[in-house]
Amino acid sequence: MSEQVPAKVDMEKIVSLCRRRGFVFPSSEIYGGLSSCWDYGPLGVELKQNIKQAWWRAVVQERDDMVGLDASILMHPQVWKASGHLEEFADPLVECKSCHLRWRVDDLKDNKCPSCQGDLTEPRQFNLMFKTFMGPVEDAASVVYLRPETAQGIFVNFKNVLNTTRKRLPFGIAQIGKAFRNEITTGNFIFRTREFEQMEIEFFVKPGTDKEWFDCWLEERLNWYVKLGIKEGNLRRRRHTKGELAHYARECYDIDYRFPMGWSELEGIANRGDFDLVQHSSASGNNLDYFDEETKEHFIPYIIEPSAGVDRSVLAFLCDAYDEEPDNNEIRVLLHLHPDLAPIKVAVLPLSRREVLVKVAKQIYADLRQCWMVQYDDAQSIGRRYRRQDEIGTPFCVTIDFQSLEDEQVTIRERDTMNQIRIPISELRNTLQAKLSGEDLFVLPPGGQIWKEERV
Ligand code: GAP
Repeated sequence: MSEQVPAKVDMEKIVSLCRRRGFVFPSSEIYGGLSSCWDYGPLGVELKQNIKQAWWRAVVQERDDMVGLDASILMHPQVWKASGHLEEFADPLVECKSCHLRWRVDDLKDNKCPSCQGDLTEPRQFNLMFKTFMGPVEDAASVVYLRPETAQGIFVNFKNVLNTTRKRLPFGIAQIGKAFRNEITTGNFIFRTREFEQMEIEFFVKPGTDKEWFDCWLEERLNWYVKLGIKEGNLRRRRHTKGELAHYARECYDIDYRFPMGWSELEGIANRGDFDLVQHSSASGNNLDYFDEETKEHFIPYIIEPSAGVDRSVLAFLCDAYDEEPDNNEIRVLLHLHPDLAPIKVAVLPLSRREVLVKVAKQIYADLRQCWMVQYDDAQSIGRRYRRQDEIGTPFCVTIDFQSLEDEQVTIRERDTMNQIRIPISELRNTLQAKLSGEDLFVLPPGGQIWKEERV
């Protein structure tokens, strides 16, 4: 994979665009914010939803060997004992003896406090699970944990899914949901937070076929990002060293993205072997093995786990899409988001606020929003309105002008090239559908023409 560096994007620009245009806001901002917590605004929630939908479509809807699940965040406390999280899910933490700030050992460059250069305590293990209490009594018997991964909800439902769907191996269970980790250090915007969302697959296979399925999922997941527009040169696979492997993993690769702060994990693909089902079988007393009707064998399946972060995907898609172009004496900022991910698919722009134009424009707006998220914008010059849509990644703008009243045609302007076509209003829905699915702009519907105006 090539080593080209994304020159135009830095984290400040992304954070500023996200705030300015309503993708992401600091949580509880009117109270000064809450460290590492973020709220998705009107455009952010659409982008996030589109990412989750694209994932679900690729891994559940379009596959015969996958089903979905939505397990609860709070689970029986025994789950976390059996899974090893109570014992093992910890980071080494040190405290500064002078300013008392706490640091994760693996984030330190030397043995000094990064804030005041003070001496540090000896490392101790700090468990990352958030604890709370179930019910009105706050005692040891009512402790429950906010799940630190969605995966365990899948493992404990393995038999339920098997029995109700009659799936045979190999098959997978997919889930999207919130996870919580009391991270010692957070940062880089939505990259590392304490509350985040995961898109996880647990794929159950016959032992012996696990290596093959591992390779297959690693390829599959890399291709998913590329298909949705991430530049191949900004993705790499990185194998975990023995020391890095999680307590449950036999093998793990990260899919790293070249974020503005450097290469960092976007998704992990792990071979969890039979660890989880063995642990839950013995801790719960319920047999979680699988009966192979062909060979008449009983065995515990191995599990291949592609586990992606929704918030990290949002950040990666935004960073990768971000672009700046010279625009006379200004700069055109645009997001080259894949149409499937763009928060707004089409903007409807009447050239003026004159009643006769507004009537037609509003009719078009009402019609198109039955299919997609559409914005109506009639404020300021047409050039400024195009720029506003470019900056939020809207793939197409539809402009209604005075000529539209006579010829019943409108122009479609493409975000990336600024090229335009003019087509009959009666062809608009179908034409936009085709363009949003990737058809070249200059493939014209009946009565359409290439529009040779100045590119704005
Ligand atoms: N079930 C396996 C598992 O949870 P992980 O590598 O710890 O594996 C999977 O997490 C993905 O979840 C990561 O690749 C990342 O995208 C996301 N993730 C993990 N911790 C996160 C955090 N503190 N903030 C945001 N995303 C996080």
